[in-house]
Amino acid sequence: THEYGNILVERRGRVGLVTLNRPEALNALDRTTLEELVAAVSAMDTDPGVGAVVITGSGKAFAAGADIKEMADKGYLEMYDADWFRGWEDLTRLRIPLIAAVSGFALGGGCELAMMCDFIIAGDNAKFGQPEINLGVVPGMGGSQRLTRAVGKAKAMDMILTGRFIDAAEAERSGLVARVVPAADTVEEALKAAEVIASKSKPAAMLAKEAVNAAFETGLAQGVLFERRLFHSLFASEDQKEGMAAFAEKRQPEFRHR
Ligand code: CAA
Repeated sequence: THEYGNILVERRGRVGLVTLNRPEALNALDRTTLEELVAAVSAMDTDPGVGAVVITGSGKAFAAGADIKEMADKGYLEMYDADWFRGWEDLTRLRIPLIAAVSGFALGGGCELAMMCDFIIAGDNAKFGQPEINLGVVPGMGGSQRLTRAVGKAKAMDMILTGRFIDAAEAERSGLVARVVPAADTVEEALKAAEVIASKSKPAAMLAKEAVNAAFETGLAQGVLFERRLFHSLFASEDQKEGMAAFAEKRQPEFRHR
């Protein structure tokens, strides 16, 4: 176990829980938070004992964006040389299912971090927005791309051009979030969903994630072919034998996660 400054890391059985823990700055995503979050979730990704991860915030916010104070004085070449925000993409290369549990503000980079997760469970107090336009900039952690894919052009343009926040109900209606739950239950509901996922065969869950993500990168015929190849490949797993045997024997499967 590591000691981190800006995040808390816990294990609940086969589920990992990572809590952004800089509530005094509304969990603004600075470089330390990036490094710690990527390190913590990457370690869980390769840990056979972890089957799913929940990322959540604390206090009033999931995260109110990239740390504005940290970047305010930088020049173009400093941003370019450091390739500011590139590191966040590392999260999207992990194979383990990631759930964002969003209570309160998910703004700018906070909304973008939530969208890097595989799905979002929102408390009914959640507020999503891409307010970068108010700072004289544009989204920089994938917001213009992932929000547009999630909610379509009309709503993405509205949010990104006006900086308007949307509430949990509008986010659910728009397809940005998977479920809305009472605010106080946000983390518990996300942990329950993660436990369900972690009880499945981990290779099947990882390939399911890969298959859905391929829908954003390929044409339909290529995607369907890719899916079929993944489907066939799982017949090499012990868990496929167990899952199908358990069905025939009318019992619950006991996946060995391989
Ligand atoms: N960066 C740095 N500090 C932040 C921050 C951010 N993104 N968001 C909030 N904070 C800090 C505030 O400066 C304040 O610190 P002090 O107590 O030292 O003054 C503290 O967190 C509490 O915030 P507020 O007093 O502002 O809280 P509020 O309840 O009055 O307002 C809010 C809440 C509407 C979310 C407001 O904090 C806000 O507008 N935050 C900025 C939102 C934003 O613009 N996000 C986009 C950032 S840019 C980005 O993310 C680029 C990208 O694409 C990756």
